[in-house]
Amino acid sequence: MKHIAVIPGDGIGKEVMEVGMDILDAVSEISSFDHDAEFFDIGSERYLKTGELVTEEEFDSLGRKDAIYFGAIGDPRVKPGILEQGILLNMRARFDQYINMRPVTSWHPFVPLKKHFDFDICFLRENTEDFYMGAGGVMRSGKKVEVNVKRMLYDLRMNVDPVSLPDDDFAFEIGLLSKRGVERFADHVFKTAEKRGEDKVTLVDKANVCTHIYGMQREIFSKKAEEHGISLDFMYVDAMAMAMIVRPHTFGTVAVPNLFGDILTDLGAQLQGGLGMGASGNINPEGVSMFEPIHGSAPDIAGQGKANPIAVVLAAKMMLDHLGYEEMGTLLRNAVRKCLDEGKSTPDLGGKLTTKEMGNEIKRAVLGL
Ligand code: NAD
Ligand code: IPM
Ligand code: MN
Repeated sequence: MKHIAVIPGDGIGKEVMEVGMDILDAVSEISSFDHDAEFFDIGSERYLKTGELVTEEEFDSLGRKDAIYFGAIGDPRVKPGILEQGILLNMRARFDQYINMRPVTSWHPFVPLKKHFDFDICFLRENTEDFYMGAGGVMRSGKKVEVNVKRMLYDLRMNVDPVSLPDDDFAFEIGLLSKRGVERFADHVFKTAEKRGEDKVTLVDKANVCTHIYGMQREIFSKKAEEHGISLDFMYVDAMAMAMIVRPHTFGTVAVPNLFGDILTDLGAQLQGGLGMGASGNINPEGVSMFEPIHGSAPDIAGQGKANPIAVVLAAKMMLDHLGYEEMGTLLRNAVRKCLDEGKSTPDLGGKLTTKEMGNEIKRAVLGL
């Protein structure tokens, strides 16, 4: 019996998660996969009522689960960053989910490129460091700013104490990479390439500008590449954005730091047909991992039954793979493929089905009906 924590969250997160749970139930019905689900009322509604984001009891309880299945968070009524940092980034950091795995594969005929390319890219986005540390502040009138970053690997406290501060306010955001953080990320990346039977890894960065953090990252990756006997290509992130459009088929395992990874994988989702197709796994190989669509709460379409539930289903596929039920994971992928082949889709892919209808079609395919 696998114990799954379910956090539908906000906006279309709630709508797609209904489909996600239906699909998981269907998988349990027809296979040896057996699960129970505990729902967590985490998201904007509760925050607006009580001011609570994630309580300590919830963290404890989430930490004891086999996996977390997450919808989306974000609400236009709440100041940007409060829910994102307080809920999603906090969970990634607290559970030390240092890998964000985001597959980008060609879901024909929805790939919006003129030429026909078959591609299967495995983006591994570092998920706890870089410009996502929350390490920043505003320097005003000569006052020093204390910056604290707490991760499972370390508890780092710094003072940013200006020696000379021109007559202005300066906001800053520190991008940090730790040696140990990069080493474990690199190990996971090379192991993934090995598992995928590839002899090359691409590391994306901006080492020509952010020379300190990405310079150190290149050194560590180069050393690890030698250790693993795998070759390493470097790509600057600007060139990578272009290359993903003109030669997506030339990439396999791609390692990318947190912020650039966020951006490139939205581009990657669109290459697959849209944000409604992009799934992700926030992985801690030794702890609890969390699976979610890469899209957000989509306030522009929330409550209208327009959301594409494929991303949440593919996130369930990743969760099943992770829990050792690869056969069921493959079944989910095939069910999605079958529905698309039969012309069934939501409006974002040119179809007419509602979220629930699309979910029912996928469920029928899972059940072999
Ligand atoms: P978004 O991903 O919510 O939406 C971007 C665009 O894609 C919108 O036009 C939306 O309608 C469309 N879209 C997204 N998912 C779709 C789906 N499944 N089917 C069809 N269309 C879909 O990004 P945004 O609008 O920039 O952000 C909205 C809120 O979500 C913000 O508060 C943001 O911080 C948050 N957010 C949360 C997550 C997350 O929970 N993982 C991810 C991204 C953004
Ligand atoms: C994502 C989202 C998050 C991120 C936000 C909501 C914090 O965009 O999962 O891609 O930037 O990682
Ligand atoms: Mn994103």
